[in-house]
Order: sequence, then C-alpha cells, then structure tokens
Amino acid sequence: MTSRLSEIRLVLLGFGNVNQELCRIISTKSEQLRLCYGVNLNVVGVSDSRHALFNRKGFNLSSLVSTKQKEKTLESVASQQSVSKYTDTLEMMSKNWSNFELLVDSSPMNLQTGEPGLSCVRQALKRGKQVVLANKSPLVVAFDELTTTQDATKSCWIKYSATTCGGLPVINVITRDLMTNKNKPMCHLKKIEGIFNSTTNFILTQMFNHAKQSHKNTLAENNGPIHKQQHGSTFDRTLQEAIRRGIAEADPSNDIKGFDTCAKLYIILKSFGVRDIAFEKMKDQYTRGIDLVDDSLIQSALRQGKVIRLIAKAFPQPQSTQTHPPWNISVSPELVDEHSFLGRCEETDMCIQIETDLFDTISMKTNEWGVTPTAAAVLRDILSFVTDHTMQQQKAKL
Ligand SMILES: NC(=O)c1ccc[n+]([C@@H]2O[C@H](COP(=O)([O-])OP(=O)(O)OC[C@H]3O[C@@H](n4cnc5c(N)ncnc54)[C@H](OP(=O)(O)O)[C@@H]3O)[C@@H](O)[C@H]2O)c1
Repeated sequence: MTSRLSEIRLVLLGFGNVNQELCRIISTKSEQLRLCYGVNLNVVGVSDSRHALFNRKGFNLSSLVSTKQKEKTLESVASQQSVSKYTDTLEMMSKNWSNFELLVDSSPMNLQTGEPGLSCVRQALKRGKQVVLANKSPLVVAFDELTTTQDATKSCWIKYSATTCGGLPVINVITRDLMTNKNKPMCHLKKIEGIFNSTTNFILTQMFNHAKQSHKNTLAENNGPIHKQQHGSTFDRTLQEAIRRGIAEADPSNDIKGFDTCAKLYIILKSFGVRDIAFEKMKDQYTRGIDLVDDSLIQSALRQGKVIRLIAKAFPQPQSTQTHPPWNISVSPELVDEHSFLGRCEETDMCIQIETDLFDTISMKTNEWGVTPTAAAVLRDILSFVTDHTMQQQKAKL
C-alpha cells in the first residue's frame, strides 16, 4: 500500500468474466471508492492466455474491457507506447515488484496443479504483496502453505471469499463471525451442509420441472405411463440449455462430476481449521456427480415428494479410528424434502447451513445470475485490506 492509502495498484491475472466485471465495478464506483474508502484502485497489470501487460500509469478500465470484449484479445493494448509486454504474469510481476501492491487471481481452475495461479500467488506472497483469489485451485493444492505465509510474515495476506459460492459471504462468516481462527478457535463445527454449485443446481431443477410438466401432460391425456417426450435424455438436453444460456461452461465436467463442489467444501473446512483432510482423497473417494441422475431417478423422487440436489456435507465422526477418518465427508446427489431449506434452493441458487456448538444453525442462501456478485466479492476482499490497514494505522497512532 502507498503511505496514505490513496492508491492501490492492482495486477489482474486472467482477464475473463470475473476480472472484466471487477474493472467495470471499479470504474463505475470510483467516486464512492474515493469518498468512502479514500482509495483509488489503479489496475497497472493485466494478463490473459496470450499477453502479460504492464502500464505504470494504470490502464483506462472502460477501454481495456471494451477492447477485450470487441477484439477478444489484448493485442491492440499491447501495441500502446506506455505498455510494457512480458512473456507471462510471473515475469511481469518479477520486473515490477515495486510498482504494484495487490494481485487478483481470476485465472482458470486447475485442480491438479493449481497453475497458472499457484506460482504467481506464491511469488506475490513471498514478496509481501496482498492477494485476492476468485480462482480456487491455489488453495486446493496448497491451502496450508499459502495461509501460513500469511500468519508467519504478518505483512502480507491472502483473501479468498469469492472462491466459494460467489457473493455469499461464507468464508467471511466462518473466519470472522464464527470465531474459528485456527490458532484461537472458540467455536466448533458440528455439521456443514449445502449446495455450492449453481450450474448443477440449475440442471437438477430444470430436470424436475420437465418431469413435472411431462407428468401433468400425461395425466391430462390419460395416456398411460410417462415417456421421454423428446430426443436425448432430459439430463443432456438440460445441460445443453445451461451451456447455451451461459450458466454452464463449455466444458462443465468439474461441475457435473462434483469436483467444483468438492473444492469449495475443502476450502470451507480448511477455513474452519479442520486439519485431517486431503483434497485428492475427498475428490476420489467421497465425491459423486450428477451425471448418473437420470429420468427414472427424478420420477421416483417426485413420487416420494422429494427432489434431488447435489449436497456437500461434512460432520465429525463420533469416534474416529484409523479405518474411520475423523470427518464424515460427502459430495453426492441426494434426495431431500421438496419443502426443506435445501429442497427450496432452486435454479441458480446456492446455500449453506452451518451448525456449531455456540451459534446453533446458521443458514444462508443466494440467488446469483451472472458474474457481478463474484466480482463484487473480489472487491469486498480488496477493500477489507484497505480497512485492515486503516485500523492498523489508527492503532499505531494511539
Ligand atoms: N465466473 C464465475 O461466476 C466464477 C465464480 C466464482 C469463481 N470463479 C473462478 O474465477 C476464475 C475466473 O473465472 P472466469 O469466469 O473469469 O473465467 P474465464 O472467463 O474463462 O477467464 C479466464 C481468464 O484467464 C485467462 N488465462 C488463461 N490462461 C492464462 C494464463 N496462463 N495466464 C494468464 N491468464 C490466463 C484467460 O485468457 P483468454 O481471455 O485469452 O482466454 C481468461 O482471460 C476461475 O478460476 C473460476 O473458477 C468464477
């Protein structure tokens, strides 16, 4: 941070949906940022799959976003005189350590290696930079290492509230309001349960809507048992619909197989200070996706007054042994009552229920459509650095 906190210079790793939307929010809220936080957020570095560009004066955000959206590349930005070009984000950062304060990682998720985010995040933290993540993978691969850097140096931090459930403040509630600081835990987790992936929730809800409609049509026509009414399974058709509407990514396998939900559950449990868990084991042994949910399962659920949701769940085993790990963990499609909290989490909703020894059960739910809440969560984390820093300065003056 600069001395009077008047300017924070940002490097953006990845320039897709999230970081473009972050730029749009920073640009439209610049006056409030100055008035309310006394801060000017200046984007000085940006990278995508083909370019890593640095502009010491800062980029014009509206023009940066519109160029990327119109031309699908940052080629014309790279040719501007004030812009320096590098082979990748790591090189860009290493040539500019004194020219920026904060890295935002919104690069693609890679649950195996954590790259390209992990190397950049590691280096940035080592150099005392603040880091804000929308990308889950660095935490999935190296949660302890990255969050311990934070504790050990006390001069750099990582914040990641945008990694779990978009704008829903799950991580903030856990780490701040539930008093779960891993070094001074006051509050103990009894159970966590939720729906953390909006793409799969949308698909499951649509499958139920189709099945209900088909059931009504069948009754109206008094035409015997329910049949498939169109080509292909309901699952495939609904998935294609989700991709067409921009709800699912072109390659939705991490969502469909439950891996994205598993990654979020892992980050949430680690934020609670849970130690004895390994992401790979959670993913390979305790995770099942929604790809096996077919029309017959949906109709059987309907007959029981239930719906199917992809539920992430964890609770401590009453008596853990070597064969039974201390945590009972699952990510799996489950039957839930249609009118329950989880059952009423529909379409692109996400939700969580957290049961602890001190706060009983806290339930939170969000309906998100589009990327704005995630980008706003990134901004929330950036601004919490500003607030933390202001408080430290005020304390130092006392
Ligand atoms: N979208 C959401 O609602 C949401 C919500 C929560 C979390 N997230 C997470 O946030 C991250 C970003 O999501 P998004 O929707 O913004 O993804 P996106 O639209 O696919 O954008 C990813 C960006 O990363 C760039 N990129 C790819 N390889 C790179 C590399 N080696 N170095 C630098 N940049 C590279 C891409 O470049 P090109 O432009 O050249 O392809 C693109 O600009 C992901 O990890 C995602 O899981 C997203």
